Amino acid sequence: MRSSESPAGRPLRRGLPVRRVRRPRWADQPGTWREASPDLIDAALRRATARPSGNWFVLAASSEIPRERPFGRTVAGVELVAWRNSEGVLRVGPGACPHLGAPLAQARVQCGQLVCRWHGMRLDETTRGRWAPFPAHDDGVLAWVRLDRVGGESPRQRPVLPPRPPLDESIAAVASMPGRCEPQDVVANRLDPWHGSWFHPYSFMNLRVADAPSVVASEDDDHFDVDVTFRLAGSVGVPVRARFTAPEPRTVAMHILDGEGAGSVVETHATPLGRDRHGRALTAVIEATVAHSDRPGFRASTAVAPAVRPVMRWAARRLWRDDLAYAERRYSLRHR
Ligand code: FES
Ligand SMILES: [Fe+2]
Repeated sequence: MRSSESPAGRPLRRGLPVRRVRRPRWADQPGTWREASPDLIDAALRRATARPSGNWFVLAASSEIPRERPFGRTVAGVELVAWRNSEGVLRVGPGACPHLGAPLAQARVQCGQLVCRWHGMRLDETTRGRWAPFPAHDDGVLAWVRLDRVGGESPRQRPVLPPRPPLDESIAAVASMPGRCEPQDVVANRLDPWHGSWFHPYSFMNLRVADAPSVVASEDDDHFDVDVTFRLAGSVGVPVRARFTAPEPRTVAMHILDGEGAGSVVETHATPLGRDRHGRALTAVIEATVAHSDRPGFRASTAVAPAVRPVMRWAARRLWRDDLAYAERRYSLRHR
C-alpha cells in the first residue's frame, strides 16, 4: 500500500494552501471496510498497549493549572490535586487532606503552598504521614503525573513524548472530553484511519490510507500514512499527508508530514478516570494540537494564538463527539 504520490487538488489561488478537490458524494465514496481489517487494527492496538509508559498519565493541559488556584482530577480512581509552587513548578499530590480528608482541589494556593480550607493545614512538596506528592512533569503543553501503583511498570524519569515542533514557533491548544470507555477504545479509534471520510465527512475529504502496518509489523513499520484533505467548505480544503503512531499505550500522535502545517502534531491522550455509578469505565480524551508552519507570517500569527485556540478546540471537540461515540460503542460491545 505504499505510495509516493502527494496529496493533490487544484489550487484556488497561487501561494495558498487551499485547494478545490473533486469529491464523490458521501455514499459514492469507495468503501474502506475491506482495508480496515479488524485483525490489523487489533494487532496495532496490541503493539501500542505493550509499549512502556513509565507509569505516566496526562493529567490536564498545563494551562488548566495556573499559579493562583489548585486543579483537581481523579485519575484511575486516585483523587489528585495539582498546583504550582512559588517558582511555578508543577506539583501533584493526593486530593484528600491528610488531616480530616477535605478536598484539596478546593484549597487556596498561597506562596506556592496549598492551604486547606477546613483547618488551614499547609501542604507543599513535603510528605505528611501517608500524604506524599507524586512525581509530576509539565512539558509546556500538558501536565503529567506518575502513578506507579496504578501503572505497575518500571517507572521512567519522564513521560514518552512524540516529537513536537518548537513551542515558541507554534500555536498549541488542548481540548478535553470525557467518555464512557477505556483508554484502549480511544487508541483503537485512532488506529482506524479508514473511518475518516465516512464518519467525519464535515472534516475530511478523499481520505486514502497510503501505508498501513501489517498484522506483524516491526517498530520501524508501525505507522499509518494517510493522504487526506481537511475540509474547509464545500469541496474546498487543505490536502496533507499525515502519519499516525502510538508512542506509548495511551497516546496516538498524528504528525503532518507533507502539505500545509508540515511538522504540526495532534496528540490524542487517553487518561483513565475511574468508573461511573453503574460500574462503567470513564476515560478523558485530552488532545493537544501543536500547530506549526514554515509559511512566512505564521510566526507573526502566533501572536493571535489566544484567538485561534478556541477555534482549534472547537474543531477537535466536534470530531471527538463522534470519535467518542465510536470508542463508547466499542467498549459497550465488549461488555455486553
Ligand atoms: S481537613 Fe485539612 S486541615 Fe483539617
Ligand atoms: Fe475519527
